[in-house]
Amino acid sequence: MILIVKFGMSSRQETPTFASSHPFLLPSTYPYTAHTHTQFNMSTDKVTCLLNWHATPYHIPIFLAQAKGYFAEEGVKVAIIEPNDPSDVTEIIGSGKVDIGCKAMIHTIAGKARGFPIKAFGSLLDEPFTGVIYLKGSGITTDFQSLKGKKIGYVGEFGKIQIDELTRHFGMSPEDYTAVRCGMNVSKAIIKGEIDAGIGLENIQMVELEEWLASQGRPRSDVQMLRIDELAELGCCCFCSILFIGNEKFIEENPEKIKAFMKAVKRANDYVLAEPKKAYEEYVDVKPIMATDVNRKMFERTFAYFSHDLANVKRDWTKVTNYSRRLGIVDQEFQPNYTNEFLSWKLDDESEDGNAKQQCIYRIQKDVAEKGGVFSGNAARFENQVVDA
Ligand SMILES: *[C@@H]1O[C@H](CO)[C@@H](O)[C@H](O)[C@H]1NC(C)=O
Ligand SMILES: *[C@@H]1O[C@H](CO)[C@@H](O)[C@H](O)[C@H]1NC(C)=O
Ligand SMILES: *[C@@H]1O[C@H](CO)[C@@H](O)[C@H](O)[C@H]1NC(C)=O
Repeated sequence: MILIVKFGMSSRQETPTFASSHPFLLPSTYPYTAHTHTQFNMSTDKVTCLLNWHATPYHIPIFLAQAKGYFAEEGVKVAIIEPNDPSDVTEIIGSGKVDIGCKAMIHTIAGKARGFPIKAFGSLLDEPFTGVIYLKGSGITTDFQSLKGKKIGYVGEFGKIQIDELTRHFGMSPEDYTAVRCGMNVSKAIIKGEIDAGIGLENIQMVELEEWLASQGRPRSDVQMLRIDELAELGCCCFCSILFIGNEKFIEENPEKIKAFMKAVKRANDYVLAEPKKAYEEYVDVKPIMATDVNRKMFERTFAYFSHDLANVKRDWTKVTNYSRRLGIVDQEFQPNYTNEFLSWKLDDESEDGNAKQQCIYRIQKDVAEKGGVFSGNAARFENQVVDA
């Protein structure tokens, strides 16, 4: 759980100049009694935005929208918050303690099914490859049944639900493996040998493990992934697409803020796609942790996954809703809640062949892993959806 303290004062109150410009710096001698008419309205005009994970290279459009003043230019104030536990996000946004945030599609659907009033209004990352990550020599192979008797780490509860469901397709049962909840520590647990494999993203946990292997003098290719979309025959990795979501009531009451937020993020996203190297250096400026080799590699491996138009993809929502029914996390009548109404630009065509796109992205990712990405001048994206600077 994270603790959020809302602060600030409404602009219409009558307060001494000192207090209104420095609301947290009230001296202990502050004469409360002399101003009994003062209304301390504890609210803020900032839009609070809770990330799905601690800041990673793929959150760059959000941080740059802030750092480059795009939010300010669109007239919206944003406070970006990082979670301690990624499993808290839908609950916190659903309860209205935070206004908006980011979350993977499957968790957004599951949160909604649990009754949290959340709605998606955009996409950040399109279909990052997700699966069971393991190291060569762990006894795990491309055969799913090799997971028998192994300890498998997962982030929140849905990774376990996904693996449990897969065991039934491969003639096994959930008792055939040991599930270990790891939160944000999946890669660390693999390195420490606490688990044999773990669920993660190709552009994040896999990169962490590749770089760790390299530091041990082992080949980077010793890290492998059993892709969940392939095992489950989903035809897309869309269940893990990272979305922009918000509290339904907040969205309904603040459509202009959502529109302004997305406009600023789109501007930053366009800049990242057009000038990835420059954009990343600016990100390092505001988030020095991004300067590490591992984070730079993650950025390279994320580049092809950045959504171009930030839109919710209907085909993906249909597939993932269907998959969620199969997993038993939603009922047959479940209706997901998403909209593109706050995206004030022309959206890309959705008609392309999902499988062809997936194969193209696979080739790009392989190439970037072997030869380098944007920092070596390789800015390949599907259909070259790169924006002119
Ligand atoms: C992940 O590791 C941190 C410390 O590095 C710990 O506080 C946290 O509880 C761990 N999360 C899980 C789910 O094990
Ligand atoms: C979707 O969200 C809106 C608020 O934006 C809400 O009024 C509506 O009831 C929600 N629909 C569903 C199906 O949950
Ligand atoms: C929904 O899932 C079922 C299997 O659970 C599958 O046969 C069907 O093709 C899927 N439909 C869509 C639209 O993906």
